[in-house]
Amino acid sequence: MSSLLVDNIGELVTNGVGEGPLGIRRKAAVLIEEGRVAWVGPAAYAPAADRRIDAGGAAVLPGFVDSHAHLVFAGDRAAEFAARMAGERYTGGGIRTTVGATRAATDDELRATVRRLRGEALRQGTTTIEIKSGYGLSVADEARSLRIAAESSSETTFLGAHVVPPEYADRPDDYVGLVCGPMLAAAAPHAKWIDVFCERGAFDVDHARAILACGQAAGLGVRLHANQLGPGPGVRLGVELDAASVDHCTHLSDADIDALAGTAHSDGSGTRTVATLLPGAEFSTRSPYPDARRLLDAGVTVALATDCNPGSSYTSSMPFCIALAVREMRMTPAEALWAATAGGARALRRDDVGVLIPGARADLVVLDAPSYLHLAYRPGVPLIHQVIRNGVPQ
Ligand code: NIG
Ligand code: FE
Repeated sequence: MSSLLVDNIGELVTNGVGEGPLGIRRKAAVLIEEGRVAWVGPAAYAPAADRRIDAGGAAVLPGFVDSHAHLVFAGDRAAEFAARMAGERYTGGGIRTTVGATRAATDDELRATVRRLRGEALRQGTTTIEIKSGYGLSVADEARSLRIAAESSSETTFLGAHVVPPEYADRPDDYVGLVCGPMLAAAAPHAKWIDVFCERGAFDVDHARAILACGQAAGLGVRLHANQLGPGPGVRLGVELDAASVDHCTHLSDADIDALAGTAHSDGSGTRTVATLLPGAEFSTRSPYPDARRLLDAGVTVALATDCNPGSSYTSSMPFCIALAVREMRMTPAEALWAATAGGARALRRDDVGVLIPGARADLVVLDAPSYLHLAYRPGVPLIHQVIRNGVPQ
């Protein structure tokens, strides 16, 4: 069994036991065995190992957990972005443009895009990424999207209910029947989660409830796009269904916050549902940001993710999202980093990632900086010096 010691860490973020909410340890070392964290402690007491990486006094963090990304698509929508920057509104209508391009693409073209974006994210410190379908919207195209997604991640999500495709435009009930029937049957073997875009212009709350219930019955966990473009019942539906996460949460009422803030109790009552904020979408659609402070101050568990997709947020960069969360949503740098690591893990109901404690997966990011604070303090600067995933230096 070969071991690896990451030594001479100036500031180690564990999200476990240590200083402050991030469980920080100073002058620390991490021992990795068989892809797992085997030991965390003071560098002065570090055990011997077969190999050693000298962090040079820099900061080391858990790899980012990006719990919301749409990587299976073809084409881009740069012209739509330019039009928005010239004053057009984002409505989600461009999703159908990407559906057309995705259907016309070969498997290899889709695979190349997923790999390219997966690699891009990894180089920016993302060691766990959720990947959704949702640009196929036919039985065959959703199934192949998920098959290809599953080659790059175990966190795959069936989003057949992204929008109603053009051929079903005047019979949405029939499309919901297709999603719950043959499409779910073809998708479920390759998916861990089911998601619905619950929004005016996409799926209403009754359709969303029906689709998510079918997914649950097929053994999939529930997550939801909700309250992105306007207020609505999506967030409360997510809490009602014990969704792992409700995502976007840009337009929330007091009732939505109360529902999300219901504490989880050991008897199973209360909510475990995480609010996942996607500030890349507000940035790229020039929309008002969600009120992260209101959620955090109410005690809601918050995650940050990229929403990487060709329409509303074409970024794979978690450091960029952290910088936005701090500057634009008034999250503290510590809250933002927690949300991008342990928060993302909660949104995927995982306890083996997003933390650096014994037994966790050895997913580490070595920064080219002395502190995690630099992620927001030095926006746009490539600070990811080295990424270790599953114990393997990338
Ligand atoms: O999460 N809101 C729905 N879906 C994506 C956008 C998809 C697109 O515009 O292509 C999102 O923002
Ligand atoms: Fe999304």
